[in-house]
Amino acid sequence: MQLIFNKRLISVAVLDQQADAIPLAQALLDGGLDVIEVTFRTAEAAHCISAIHEAFPAMLVGAGTVLTPEQARQAKAAGAQFAVAPGFNEAVVAAAQQCGLPFFPGVMTPSDVEGALRLGCVFAKFFPAEAAGGVPMLRALAGPYAHTGLKFIPTGGIGPANLAGYLALPIVAAVGGSWMCERKLLQDKDWCKISALTAEAVQLAGQGNPPGLEPQTGAVRHGWPRRE
Ligand code: 3PG
Repeated sequence: MQLIFNKRLISVAVLDQQADAIPLAQALLDGGLDVIEVTFRTAEAAHCISAIHEAFPAMLVGAGTVLTPEQARQAKAAGAQFAVAPGFNEAVVAAAQQCGLPFFPGVMTPSDVEGALRLGCVFAKFFPAEAAGGVPMLRALAGPYAHTGLKFIPTGGIGPANLAGYLALPIVAAVGGSWMCERKLLQDKDWCKISALTAEAVQLAGQGNPPGLEPQTGAVRHGWPRRE
């Protein structure tokens, strides 16, 4: 998990073909990023996660778009080291916690945030970040929730032009997005372009003065997932 906090970036991929998994992971690594989220939007997702996990054990590979408890268990069995969902679904969070899979549920409202806190989540995907109010919305959410230690991973509409604004917020752990390996680039197998976009993102994310992730609660400091 520490890799997410080091680079503060998650590359979100939709892989139609298992054959693209290794070249994509290599392209991201060539660009300096060792974190990937493979979304469960295709039938190949679990196979791709396994392939990346086996080929690049030092890479942090996660599962995205995890919508059901069964997908959480599949992701864990495939070797995913974290999982993400676009929304907040208690059954999915519980399944992930039961199998020891760090899970970042999607949140967009204060009620979502409180649901995530209730289940002991210490990271949440803020989705869809730009459409849901972007940086001003996160600043507003920080008011009542920063002291809980919850950190956000904004995703949705983020790219080179706006990622630094998100990462400047102390309540933001990392940003995620598909722009480094969007579907057209994968279809074209344009690994060079993917590496270049990744290198640019890594450079942008490393600029400025990262707030760091000094946890504000013992729950965050002592691990994941926290259970009640
Ligand atoms: C997603 O789940 O689709 C991610 O949030 C990626 O969003 P993006 O394509 O806008 O980067």
